[in-house]
Amino acid sequence: MTPTVFVLSGPNLNRLGTREPEIYGSDTLEDVHDAVRREAEHLGLVADCRQTNHEGELIDWLHQAVDAGADVVLNPGAFTHYSYAVRDACAIVTTSGRSLVEVHLSNPAAREQFRHVSVVGPVATGTVAGFGLQSYLLALRALV
Ligand code: DQA
Repeated sequence: MTPTVFVLSGPNLNRLGTREPEIYGSDTLEDVHDAVRREAEHLGLVADCRQTNHEGELIDWLHQAVDAGADVVLNPGAFTHYSYAVRDACAIVTTSGRSLVEVHLSNPAAREQFRHVSVVGPVATGTVAGFGLQSYLLALRALV
């Protein structure tokens, strides 16, 4: 059976394409998901792509990934910097033996001070940041 990877994006990422294009580029989330699905197929994976603006929904999806035995590519958006609840859900993924790659389109370390902290990073398998849409594709590659 072809392994499924959950590709999850958090708040405001549904606005890609028009949201601060000088930072996030002109690709829409649909463009990101299309490219992710193509790359996943190329790598022998199926990508289950989802986006939510709601912390609890994101946490539910991380639990679902554990129950499905699926690895995760996660762009937590601003939750990255302060959500201990998302962090704890990510820890459930990685302590269950699955991989979780934290991704960012931009490079938060090169931006405002409050973005320099990731509460997710310490419980992720690894992080890819700063390569725009390619960050998601590199994260998929890291999983195989
Ligand atoms: C982001 C970086 C975060 O700091 C920000 O809050 C986002 C997007 C990125 O992909 O670069 O919403 O995760």
